[in-house]
Amino acid sequence: RQVFDLHKTVVLVGMMGAGKTAVGRALAARLGVPFLDSDSEIESAANMTIPEIFERDGEPFFRAKESQVIGRLLDEKKGILSTGGGAFLSEENRTMISDRGVSVWLCADLEVLWNRVRHKDTRPLLRTPDPYATLRDLYEARVPLYAQADLVVNSDGDTAIEDMVDRVLEK
Ligand code: S3P
Repeated sequence: RQVFDLHKTVVLVGMMGAGKTAVGRALAARLGVPFLDSDSEIESAANMTIPEIFERDGEPFFRAKESQVIGRLLDEKKGILSTGGGAFLSEENRTMISDRGVSVWLCADLEVLWNRVRHKDTRPLLRTPDPYATLRDLYEARVPLYAQADLVVNSDGDTAIEDMVDRVLEK
């Protein structure tokens, strides 16, 4: 089995529902490198789910934890790092990620993202009276920031995970 010698951590960024976790896990398995996930690290360190953290401590607290965790994961080991959809928004995080990793924006249409997130209740930011409008507003505000990633990989609604892995590797 191939074990890839990564020189930098590959950091997957992009909207909720873009497939960062699924593609990241499959990419790490394909390369035989560690899979790292900032949201799960935050959850296990706090022993709470993301919605619970947002509810109890608020979004600014979550964002501070997120920056700390990403910094620590980038220091600890090289691998594939899936981040939460808001991780690439702060300049501090973008700088940290570009200095110590290669960023890949998993880009998908709003409708594709919506179809993937609409039936789940795991995204505190979408607990609004009109979650579609909220997702659209986040999408529009965030695209220019995600576009600063080193690489862009498009995810269509029906692209299989392993095909997404191929596309990332081609880039
Ligand atoms: C967020 C996305 C979530 C999670 C949190 C905030 C965001 O991660 O970090 O709910 O700001 O877009 P996913 O992108 O994995 O859903």
